[in-house]
Amino acid sequence: MRSPEGAGRGDEVHASPFELPVWHELATHRAELASTSMGRLFEDDPRRGVKLSAEFDGVVLDYSKNVITDRTVDLLMRLARDRGLAAGIDAMFGGTRINTTEDRAVLHTVLRTPASESVLLDGVDVVRPVHEVLGRMSDLADAIRSGRWRGATGRSVRTVVNIGIGGSDLGPAMAYHALREFAHAEVEARFVSNVDGHDIDRVLGDLDPETTLFIVSSKTFSTIETLTNARTARRWLVDRLGDEAVGKHFVAVSTNAEQVGAFGINPANMFEFWDWVGGRYSLMSAIGLSLMIVIGPEGFREMLAGAHAIDEHFRTAAFEENLPVLLGLLGIWHRNFCGAQAFAVLPYDQRLALLPAYLQQLDMESNGKSVNRHGCPVGVDTAPVVWGAPGTNGQHAFFQMLHQGTTPVPCDFIGVLEPAHTHRVHHDLLMANLFAQTRALAFGDLDTPEPPPHRSFPGDRPSNTILLPSLTPYTLGQLIALYENKVFVQGWIWGVNSFDQWGVELGKKLATSIHEDLRSDAPPDFDSSTNALMLRYRHARRSGPVGQPSATTTGEI
Ligand code: F6P
Repeated sequence: MRSPEGAGRGDEVHASPFELPVWHELATHRAELASTSMGRLFEDDPRRGVKLSAEFDGVVLDYSKNVITDRTVDLLMRLARDRGLAAGIDAMFGGTRINTTEDRAVLHTVLRTPASESVLLDGVDVVRPVHEVLGRMSDLADAIRSGRWRGATGRSVRTVVNIGIGGSDLGPAMAYHALREFAHAEVEARFVSNVDGHDIDRVLGDLDPETTLFIVSSKTFSTIETLTNARTARRWLVDRLGDEAVGKHFVAVSTNAEQVGAFGINPANMFEFWDWVGGRYSLMSAIGLSLMIVIGPEGFREMLAGAHAIDEHFRTAAFEENLPVLLGLLGIWHRNFCGAQAFAVLPYDQRLALLPAYLQQLDMESNGKSVNRHGCPVGVDTAPVVWGAPGTNGQHAFFQMLHQGTTPVPCDFIGVLEPAHTHRVHHDLLMANLFAQTRALAFGDLDTPEPPPHRSFPGDRPSNTILLPSLTPYTLGQLIALYENKVFVQGWIWGVNSFDQWGVELGKKLATSIHEDLRSDAPPDFDSSTNALMLRYRHARRSGPVGQPSATTTGEI
């Protein structure tokens, strides 16, 4: 049993990491490494590739292609210790309210804690309700998959449409895309997130209302994009099947039962989660309902098991062998000591095409902060710009900049050893490209001694390689937990609250007041740029095609 009593308060470290002596030792050490090349490091130690690798439960991390030495690793480990990372991990897993600005515990790890365990929050076990909701989700998923759940006209559900945005969309959409091979043959999922009417128009376009179930997914149930899309979907359904059909074709996932009721969804069709699950950490809560319906409850539970295995590893393994800790500290090394401003995620697997966007929210919304948990300036750089695309496509797009641009970008290459298809020739080529890219980035062109400047590859461009045995619900769960915990490590070292997102509030507030003004005739009263743009839009709205309603957005503009 874990409870907050045993954990540190999680707020021992008030100051910037910059104030730690080891931070300065790392900076000095980095300067000393300036003239060291990756080629030299590999020459000096023929076992480097094996030595600077770690493996847990089938997941391999090769971090040898970074300009680091044993001393770098030692210093980074010391940074983690001096920064109280172990206490931080205990605080998170133990339910301490480390999300200080919202006074919340951070317990998304409980979503994948086995039913046989218990975790206490304010003296109450939070593992039990998690498994109760999982049970209700499984019942619905089974009923839909078997055709027992009937729509208003008696037909079975064949399409589930998840309506949500941010953490209520990116996780299930990414995982669905990744796990299509595990999907029910006759039940598909679709995702609507953007308030842009084109998004819902395209999703509804060829849908049969009689065989569609909408899942309105919103932690707060107050997100304007989601509620606008949900209202449009409801009107679309009611226009075709009548008011009575809503109960059979809409369910909700939220922490906010009151708003779900106010929207007109029967609380019996609501799947709950809790304020101690951050939006971007919520895929494994009921927010994953669309995924569970398509891959089945068993597949979903396998994903939870994979994530739990990594959580346990993160909680208990020595830092030197701890995959999330290693990834997090290497990120700190690049960001804070090598000046990297960006970080690229490069899955060599088309099924992981949506992973970069998912990790972008996870990393940038968690750690894109300038003040620490105590409201003081962080004093060091925090989250990098996270981006990426699957290989090999990226090679024919932006890899030019990775190889020869002026700004080195550390990369995570992600490969899957065993594909789900039988086109061996494709997979060999794909993996050959992955290995070739990391080698070219690290060492440059070893075969051309004196290339002309435009053909020269400087090398010394850092990358990690992560290998999964295959892509299954279990290994996807591992991968997600690996990055969630990596982001935690970095946030803890920087001293930021990785679990709030106040930076998105101003835009929401301004959009509300601009939205009101767009619909009025009064002169807008913002800055001269915004006013002119608004007037141009108002003019187009009155006279142009934007004013012409589409089939589904009637009355929304
Ligand atoms: O505005 C940002 C955000 O709050 C994200 O953190 C969250 O994932 C997303 O909006 C959606 O929020 P909700 O699930 O409450 O609709």
